[in-house]
Amino acid sequence: MSNAPIIARKSPFPVEVVQGKTYFWCACGKSGRQPFCDGSHKGTGFEPVKYTAEDSKKVFFCGCKHSSKPPLCDGTHNGL
Ligand code: FES
Ligand code: FES
Repeated sequence: MSNAPIIARKSPFPVEVVQGKTYFWCACGKSGRQPFCDGSHKGTGFEPVKYTAEDSKKVFFCGCKHSSKPPLCDGTHNGL
């Protein structure tokens, strides 16, 4: 079990989310369908983070997995 997530990429994933829809953001970095969970976190100690869209709009999901505002990008990737 590792304590640090894998950096999927050092930039966010822009996604057009749909109002009322729920998304599960990959926190571990291992998913093959970033930025969302595909179940690959099994055994890592990480769990996906649930995100329900309040509006239909473009949001930026964190790709580096080190954001302090998960599941969204907060610019932390710039320092990695
Ligand atoms: Fe990364 Fe599920 S695959 S949290
Ligand atoms: Fe992770 Fe921006 S991609 S903080």
